[in-house]
Amino acid sequence: MSGGHVIAVDQGTTNTKAILVNAAGEVVAKASAPLRTSYPRPGWAEQSAEDIWSSVQDAIADIVRSGTFDIAGLAIANQRETLVVWDAKTGSPIAPAILWQCRRTARACEAMIAEGADPVVVEATGLSINALFPASKLAWVMENVPEARTLVAAGRLKAGTVDSWLLYKLTGGRQFATDHSNASRTQLFNTGRLRWDEDLCDLFGVPSSVLPEVRPSDSRFGVVAEGATALEGGVPILAMMGDSHAALYGHGVHAPGLVKATYGTGSSLMTLTPERVLSRNGLSSTIAWSERGGIAYALEGNITVSGQAAAFAAEMLGLADAKALSALAQTVPDAAGVTFLPALAGLGAPHWNDNVSGTISGMTLATTRAHVARATLDAIALQVSDVFLAMEKDIDTRLHGLLADGGASGNDFLMQLQADILDRPVMRSGEAEVGAIGVAAMAMQGLGGSSSVSEGQRSVFEPRKEAARWRSDAIRDWRSLLARLTSDTAHPTR
Ligand code: G3P
Repeated sequence: MSGGHVIAVDQGTTNTKAILVNAAGEVVAKASAPLRTSYPRPGWAEQSAEDIWSSVQDAIADIVRSGTFDIAGLAIANQRETLVVWDAKTGSPIAPAILWQCRRTARACEAMIAEGADPVVVEATGLSINALFPASKLAWVMENVPEARTLVAAGRLKAGTVDSWLLYKLTGGRQFATDHSNASRTQLFNTGRLRWDEDLCDLFGVPSSVLPEVRPSDSRFGVVAEGATALEGGVPILAMMGDSHAALYGHGVHAPGLVKATYGTGSSLMTLTPERVLSRNGLSSTIAWSERGGIAYALEGNITVSGQAAAFAAEMLGLADAKALSALAQTVPDAAGVTFLPALAGLGAPHWNDNVSGTISGMTLATTRAHVARATLDAIALQVSDVFLAMEKDIDTRLHGLLADGGASGNDFLMQLQADILDRPVMRSGEAEVGAIGVAAMAMQGLGGSSSVSEGQRSVFEPRKEAARWRSDAIRDWRSLLARLTSDTAHPTR
């Protein structure tokens, strides 16, 4: 690819990151722009779609300012399941982006499940009906945003995940498309037949005419319009993938057998499967990516609140940030019986329960803030462990370790806790931005360049023998709290 560089953008929930990768597959520049989330009502979560777009413009501008480079292509990884709806005539959103974490449609989803709709949705999409996915969010828009129906009638409404919104803005409104990985997380895409499912659109009450064209993840999606960003017009967009999928790709996982966990706002564990597998243990079946005409399938467990639990607890405890929380947690040998279930936006995989809220149990007069801090870090590791074990059951194979990435994976103490809880080694990527690395690698292959981008030196955390007693106590307390909280409220969803 004659010395060209690739810019990979990872548009995440709390910030947009961008990396610049040279032709040898080395990361040579990085940028980041923050993003705000609002919580207008309990359980609701929104972002400004315009802010999402300007954070991408800012991150790209920072990269462009960092030197003079020949930019041969752009690649996009993104927060998934967040819904953006906009008017094609004005190019402006008609409502705030409804965040993946938003639970506003939880009751509507429960009603659909009660009516018996779940099996048909699972069969078509691999996903059990849940407020996480855009299908019910789009139904909510059709019901509650007055402009929506008029714009559908006028053929002007566009609805998509963040990748399609960004592609639309990057190409000056010329391209309205998504990739298989993002489409597979909407709950409207038939992952067996590889097309939008009209029956599901009818079931949810959403018009299929507003949905983007679905293309392979390694497509040439269009070119950046002049003036859209700090880049010169004409730079091709060569790859798009959901962030979690891109992270799996970035770890170099191209065949079944390895599982990765991304420690972001939430956490996602993903493992490739030889074919489309429907979970029996609370996980989702999903499309990992599509490239060179082939579809890669995966099993995924999505934890709704993970790294964010540490930020939340830090604020509650009056600490500066998650780093201070971690330092405080390390001043005690264990949580002294305190257990924190961070169900702050319902419970995701593998338990799926919207009727449980964040709960701390086991406190006594001897409990200190340090024990609560420690219980928070334990909870992040325990949630990941629950999904890991569910994955082993689904694939009927013992997994030998966990590949880790994402912001909170930078915390050595948490990674050691994770290895101790799992009783398996945790291999942390040397580069936190594995999602950006993955999508950059896919774009570079399209350019005929290096097929891998360096993810730096991995660190390995081995489980400690002396943690055996702590592990069984922590798991016992965790399971008993979960059982207590979910016994009255559980419904049998995946
Ligand atoms: O499924 C939601 C996920 O894609 C969000 O990722 O990195 O923004 O927490 P992140």
